[in-house]
Amino acid sequence: MSPRITRRRLLGTSAAAVAAAAGGGWLARSGLLGPGEPGRLLPSQVPLPRPYQVPLPVPPVLAPVRSDATTDYHEITQRPATLSILPGLPTEAWTYHGSFPGPTIRSRTGRRTVVRHRNTLPHPTVVHLHGGHTPADSDGYPADLIMPAGGSTPAHVGHHAGHHAGHHGGHEPGRISVGERDYTYPMRQRAASLWYHDHRHGHTGVAVWRGLAGFHLVHDDEEDALRLPAGDRDIPIMIADRSFAANGSLRYPLIDPDLRTPGVTDPYMNGVLGDVILVNGAPWPVLRTDRARYRLRLLNASNARRYRLALDPPAPGGGLVQIGSDGGLLHRPLTHHTIDIAPAERFDVVVDFSRYRPGTRVRLVNRLGTGQTAHVMAFDITDATHDDPGLPERLSHIEPLDPARAAVTRTFHFQLRPDHGWTINGHPYRPGRPLARPRLGTTEVWRLISDFHHPVHVHLDPFQVISRNNRAPGPYDAGWKDTVDVRPSEAVEIAIRFTDYAGTFMLHCHNLEHEDMAMMADFTTT
Ligand code: C2O
Ligand code: CU
Ligand code: CU
Repeated sequence: MSPRITRRRLLGTSAAAVAAAAGGGWLARSGLLGPGEPGRLLPSQVPLPRPYQVPLPVPPVLAPVRSDATTDYHEITQRPATLSILPGLPTEAWTYHGSFPGPTIRSRTGRRTVVRHRNTLPHPTVVHLHGGHTPADSDGYPADLIMPAGGSTPAHVGHHAGHHAGHHGGHEPGRISVGERDYTYPMRQRAASLWYHDHRHGHTGVAVWRGLAGFHLVHDDEEDALRLPAGDRDIPIMIADRSFAANGSLRYPLIDPDLRTPGVTDPYMNGVLGDVILVNGAPWPVLRTDRARYRLRLLNASNARRYRLALDPPAPGGGLVQIGSDGGLLHRPLTHHTIDIAPAERFDVVVDFSRYRPGTRVRLVNRLGTGQTAHVMAFDITDATHDDPGLPERLSHIEPLDPARAAVTRTFHFQLRPDHGWTINGHPYRPGRPLARPRLGTTEVWRLISDFHHPVHVHLDPFQVISRNNRAPGPYDAGWKDTVDVRPSEAVEIAIRFTDYAGTFMLHCHNLEHEDMAMMADFTTT
């Protein structure tokens, strides 16, 4: 990115930033921050579709192009595609393999997965497997670009890569490929609902908004043995808000439509909120459900929007029974009446629809939304039933990380700074200059301190939430996490054990507008 342009642009927001530094009151009153929602609504320029008119799509599962004794090989072409999202109006999108969400990849623990991504989009891309325990060269470092196939390197991209080449720090930013790149995932990790998405430095927000996101599910024997709802009663649910321009395209407040300068216009720097809630790419869809248990793998793939999900009417005596978190199965099921889900978080829940009478319409609602953003999707209960094994009382073993044995405690401040934008420990992202050098094999405690809502994500290894403001973790912090919702004026302590792969990885805010404007940092494992 051009630091000069960014700094000049940020001067326009310095009044807000100074007030924010002084406590956030002005920013809160200005409307940049709503009480429960970071970000600002970008209204669609088309009439909003009516909720509950279309069936819930389920993304196609990608078949490997070949498999051998150790490895499954997949191929994905990133390409523009015309999607049908709104009634009667086509939407030009950026897609993985022609669909949004992209095709679902399935892996088994211990079997290597190689994904060859071919970029035929008009812009460079980077692919990150979110939640993947992945060596650095396949982790989607933000400067490791795949240049468009057949295109030439735009001057500003070449300059960008060169700009970082002088930095020391163990990583050589800008391992650029042209046309395609193989990402190798060893899959030395337990069953979990992962997702893949774009991760290009400064341009992740627009790329994901335009459609570059998909599921990658990992399966293992431990989970199979539990006989959880499976087949078409195991459904990935990608929730993402979007806005649409008059011509049906995805509307996004880029500061530079040519994507030379990253970021969004000033009013949206705290996050872009859409007014259309898409689930698996369809607006407010409906799923016809049998009177049986369903496993819903909830993912918030929104750029900035947080949701408080609930069933309406609530399931008598039940609700949303959480069986897994970002990093796979919990120790035991955990019943919630509402679930707060921040960008990039996953909640794996089981809902027992046999508790409802046939003919009931059960809505999944968002208690942080207003108007139509208070709706997400609906389930129409049929009279078909299944013989369900009940949920086991015990799901898995989670070894608690002991913070008392941490090798190091580090503190990271997530803050808006008048002259720098969104920062970590006072710095906007500086590729190649790590803020921490954890030793492999050790556990560390990281204190994440926040001014506003920041869903903080750490690459490479999952973590456990130890405390919030020196109190016990919250109701949504159970199990292995890779993203934690750090709320205004909170200090969240997490414990992480660094394992297996030496190299440079990132921690960052997963509000994608914050990430692009540059709330990200490298850490280097040694
Ligand atoms: Cu889902 Cu570094 O991101
Ligand atoms: Cu990640
Ligand atoms: Cu943030």
